[in-house]
Amino acid sequence: MAEGPVVVNRKGEARVLRGHPWVFRTDVVRAQGIAPGAVVRVEGPRGRHLGFAFYSSRSEIRLRMIDRGESLPESFLRERVEAAVQWRESIAQGATACRLVHGEGDRLPSLVVDRYGEYLVVQTLSQGTEDRKDELVRILVERLHPAGILERNDPKVRAFEGLDQRVGLLHGTVPERVEVDEGDVRFEADLWRGQKTGLFLDQRENHLMARGYARGRVLDGFSYHGGFALHAARVSSEVMAVDASAEAVAQIARNAGRNGLGNVVAREANVFDLLRELYDRGERFDTVILDPPAFAKSKDAVEKAARGYKEINLRALKLLQPGGCLVTCSCSYHIHEADFEEILASASADASATAVVVEKRRQARDHPVLLGVPETYYLKCFVLRKLP
Ligand SMILES: C[S@@+](CC[C@H](N)C(=O)[O-])C[C@H]1O[C@@H](n2cnc3c(N)ncnc32)[C@H](O)[C@@H]1O
Repeated sequence: MAEGPVVVNRKGEARVLRGHPWVFRTDVVRAQGIAPGAVVRVEGPRGRHLGFAFYSSRSEIRLRMIDRGESLPESFLRERVEAAVQWRESIAQGATACRLVHGEGDRLPSLVVDRYGEYLVVQTLSQGTEDRKDELVRILVERLHPAGILERNDPKVRAFEGLDQRVGLLHGTVPERVEVDEGDVRFEADLWRGQKTGLFLDQRENHLMARGYARGRVLDGFSYHGGFALHAARVSSEVMAVDASAEAVAQIARNAGRNGLGNVVAREANVFDLLRELYDRGERFDTVILDPPAFAKSKDAVEKAARGYKEINLRALKLLQPGGCLVTCSCSYHIHEADFEEILASASADASATAVVVEKRRQARDHPVLLGVPETYYLKCFVLRKLP
């Protein structure tokens, strides 16, 4: 079934042998007559067999390795989906919403499948996975019997593959709003229009972790639908949840009501401005949570992003009561863990605070980080405690 071979140069070969799944256009030396999205055999410059990959005719990422073995079974998609689902059944027990397939982290590059109760959301982000969408839907229906499958193929990265942006039904029906539980907190998710595929599932485990530190008066900056705020509200006296999006703020209020949480105040504001205003007004918090969007979406944006991260963390540490915890995140892949720690250290010094690192965490385990592939480790989450 595999086409090819597609031949890569020495640099591409070395990369594949190191275990990296991507080969760039400039490292492909021969790919004649290969259909867009085909599964291809990959060879090194001297004919060494390197494995199998999805081929893209358009993207800078020309090959996405699927397997390094001698042969690839026809049923590889079914087998990989099965393995990914089984792993989630063991690590995400009890979560009604979680990621079932996380691209490279499940050896299914550029494929995302999220579960929201009885509904599934799918993203096919390359020609290779787009080409196998019908087969994927058949596999998911047989294995999971969902009431509906939605494709959220609106991420911009699809344009690099020459693929259009679209949102639509692939199977059954999917209502406007779906309810899911994260422990004892119920969230409403808009799978059709919400950010990501509806919720920030990559923070699922961190929401629960942060709850363990929350107490007293809590500030949740960049709250979205209240992922951190509502868990914190279960164990603290009051929570101020802040987001720049009016839609998100309305949803936080609805979610708080649905959970009977009368101690959540949702505010529409720019967190940068609000942190300054709160400090100037003399307001202080026992716990602060910061989960901004990726400030550095490219390498060129790293310096400006670092200034943004420093500013919000400096201000948060000033607002934090001594003895309190700051739970602070960065989902910019380009800001690596060590960079983020340095930014936090600098923010702490400028805030005249002494802080200890209580925990260093990452994206939830259903979003696996592929060893040796730093691109798959994007979400950092530090818990700092400001010493009294
Ligand atoms: C990573 S999401 C937060 C996810 C949320 N903490 C959760 O766990 O569900 C970032 C949020 O920040 C909001 N946002 C972006 N820029 C902002 C700003 N300057 N001030 C306030 N909110 C902002 C976005 O609307 C988005 O909801």
